[in-house]
Amino acid sequence: MSVRIRFDGTEIAGRDGQTIAGVLLANGHRTWRDADGSARGIFCGIGVCQDCVLTVNGVEGVRACQRTACDGDVIEREVRS
Ligand code: FES
Repeated sequence: MSVRIRFDGTEIAGRDGQTIAGVLLANGHRTWRDADGSARGIFCGIGVCQDCVLTVNGVEGVRACQRTACDGDVIEREVRS
């Protein structure tokens, strides 16, 4: 089974059960957040550092490494300092 999510206006596919970070990484995205001009993506991978946060379906601050991707999710980048 696969899931399809929208990131940067483009639909990308992942496997059922993958985290959002997993889907993004599998589709070639290594970073998806800007922090004081520094690109961020996965760092700890266990929900501690918050480097991977993004906006999911309008909800800010979602940890991409912890949230399972759901079919139809709309993912937006965040800029934080
Ligand atoms: S990578 Fe550290 S919280 Fe997600």
